Amino acid sequence: MQKRATISKAFKRKYPEQVVLVTTRKPDGGANVMAVGWAAIASSVPSMFVLAIDDGAYTYELIKKTKEFVVAFPNEKMGKEVVYVGTRHGHTCDKIAGSGLAIQPADKVKAPLIANAVRLQGQPSN
Ligand SMILES: Cc1cc2nc3c(=O)[nH]c(=O)nc-3n(C[C@H](O)[C@H](O)[C@H](O)COP(=O)(O)O)c2cc1C
Repeated sequence: MQKRATISKAFKRKYPEQVVLVTTRKPDGGANVMAVGWAAIASSVPSMFVLAIDDGAYTYELIKKTKEFVVAFPNEKMGKEVVYVGTRHGHTCDKIAGSGLAIQPADKVKAPLIANAVRLQGQPSN
């Protein structure tokens, strides 16, 4: 028989969850990165993601401004860095430098790639 639970107790069943890193480009040319757990693939071709991003996040402001971002899947050793970039706001600090995450240029957007993120086999080219 189904158990009754409060909505907040039921939501806890979702965790632990996979987290992605979302990078963006700042107006001064620097980069920002945040952790996003509420993320889902919505389409493979064309590549589409659903990202639930708080409207107080700097990332939200930068995506609205630049219309660009990168979604990176952190590798299993990046836990500390994920927590670092997920607990600070990029308005006030350089989270790339502070976290020690290495970035590299992307081919098609100004937002950078996370250098040691998981590289997917058979990535769509769009
Ligand atoms: C594991 C983890 C998952 C998170 N998931 C989300 C999320 O799905 N959506 C969101 O808006 N914030 C999420 N956060 C919080 C943001 O990463 C955090 O507010 C961050 O400071 C925003 O950075 P920004 O202001 O530089 O964009 C998460 C944090 C952690 C540590």
